[in-house]
Amino acid sequence: METDFLKNNILTLVEKSNSKEITLQAICDFLKQEIDYYDWVGFYFINGDKEELKLAQFAGEPTEHTIIPFGKGICGQVAVSNQNFVVQDVESQDNYISCGWKVKSEIVIPIFVDGKNIGQIDIDSHTVNPFSKQDELLLEFVCEQVAKIV
Ligand code: SME
Repeated sequence: METDFLKNNILTLVEKSNSKEITLQAICDFLKQEIDYYDWVGFYFINGDKEELKLAQFAGEPTEHTIIPFGKGICGQVAVSNQNFVVQDVESQDNYISCGWKVKSEIVIPIFVDGKNIGQIDIDSHTVNPFSKQDELLLEFVCEQVAKIV
């Protein structure tokens, strides 16, 4: 993984941002394009004062899971745990919401603003066991940058 190249491009997108929506979409498109095992990249945010996540920008196939209650699925669990969740094989998870038979693994990293978990980046992969610590570090960086514009 070319971490410096990826981080520099994310930084540039955020620094040049004058529209949250356009920038989040550009980040999704960029990560999906540059990392071959990122097959779906999206942002979920807490939906107002409801205990649920709402899908925002994404790159990849549309999903019917545009609203996810807290505690449900990998995303909903991260909304309450405030922890990274790396699933190298979705078959190992009981509390998992499938977005299609092709998805084999998933990584979800929370986004914090002023210490509060306000949403997350979610990556689905069609490959089993694709994620390393480098993915977590890269995506934590992405979330820190996103926190500046949301
Ligand atoms: N698999 C997720 C649902 C969202 S999709 O991956 C886009 C989950 O279990 O929360």
